[in-house]
Amino acid sequence: MWRARRWPERRRTASSGRANTHVIHHAGKILALVEAGLPYEMTSELGTVGPRDFGGRLTTGMTAHPKELDGELHFFGYGVVPPYLTYHRLDAAGELVESRAVEVPGPTMMHDFTVTEHYVIWLDLPVVFDMERLGKGMPFSWSDAYGARLGVMDRAGVTRWFDVDPCYVFHVGNAREDAQGRVVLDGVRYSRDYFNRTWKVIGGSTDPTPQAGAAVLHRWTLDLDGAVKEEQLDDRSVEFPTFNEDRLGRASRYLYAVTGGEVVKYDTERGTSTITPVDGHAGEAVFVPRAGARAEDEGWLMSIVDDRLLVHEATDLHEVASVRLPRRVPAGFHGSWIAD
Ligand SMILES: [Fe+2]
Repeated sequence: MWRARRWPERRRTASSGRANTHVIHHAGKILALVEAGLPYEMTSELGTVGPRDFGGRLTTGMTAHPKELDGELHFFGYGVVPPYLTYHRLDAAGELVESRAVEVPGPTMMHDFTVTEHYVIWLDLPVVFDMERLGKGMPFSWSDAYGARLGVMDRAGVTRWFDVDPCYVFHVGNAREDAQGRVVLDGVRYSRDYFNRTWKVIGGSTDPTPQAGAAVLHRWTLDLDGAVKEEQLDDRSVEFPTFNEDRLGRASRYLYAVTGGEVVKYDTERGTSTITPVDGHAGEAVFVPRAGARAEDEGWLMSIVDDRLLVHEATDLHEVASVRLPRRVPAGFHGSWIAD
C-alpha cells in the first residue's frame, strides 16, 4: 500500500511558469502552457499578455495537454500537496466553470489525460514526487509501491479505477467508447526499466524524444464492469502520438507518431503502419485537416525537424514542403495549427 507523506496544509496557489511545452488556441485566446504553472496568454504576434488565473479561481497549474471537445476545454492540474489532482473545465466562451478534486493515493506526475464523449480518462501511474530529487530537475521518480491505475470519471465526477500492469505514459493517442460501452485508450507505454533509463536522460522535463528502446504503442480496453484488456499494438519505439483532433474522444482510425528519425502512420483498423524517414530528429507531427475534408486522413502532418518545418501529406506521407527556420528547435516541443 502506498502511503502519502503528510504535508503541511497551506493555501494552494499556482505560479506562472516558463510556459514552454505547448501552445493552444481556445475561445479566441492563444495560451502557452507548462504543466507546473498557469497558462500564459499570448497575442498572435507572439506578444505576452500574461498569466491567466481566471480571477484567482485557478489554483493549480494547467497541464500542457488540455483536450477540447465540443468547444469545451477539459484540463487538470497536479501538485505535491493534496488535492494531488484537480480537474477543470472551461466552457466554450473560455470561462472556468468547473474545478473538482479527484482522489488519487499520492502526488503522481500526470503529464497527459484524455476525454471521450461521456468520460474523462485519468493516468494514475507510479511516477511520484520524490523529495530526494529536489533540486535535480523534475522531483519525481518511479515507485514500485505506488501501483498503476487508469480512471474513468463520468461527468458527475464519479471515477472508476482500473488496476493495470505498472507502466508510465507521457502521451496518449485517442480514446473512445466502443459499441459495447467499453473505453478504449491508445497511448505510448514505458516499462519501468525503460522509463528509468529515459528519465535519467530527460529528468528535467516531461517530453522525451524517442530513443532506441521500448516506448511502444499500447491499447487498454476498460470494461466498466471492471475487466481490463491490454495489448501492445506495435514494437517500434515511438513518441508524440497525434491524430485528427476533430475525432477526439470518438472512433478514429489513423494515429501518427514519430521515432527518432521517422514519421509513422498507424492504421489501427487494419493493424498496419507506414513510415517516412526524415533527415534529423523528428518532432511531433501535428495533423492539420484540409478545409472541407471528408476523409479522416485528408490533411497534412507538420513536424519540426531540427531547423526545418516539414510538411507531409497525411494520406501517403509524401513530403510536400520543407521550410527553413531561423534557428534550430530542440525536439520535444508540442504545437498546434492555429488557422489565421
Ligand atoms: Fe507532452
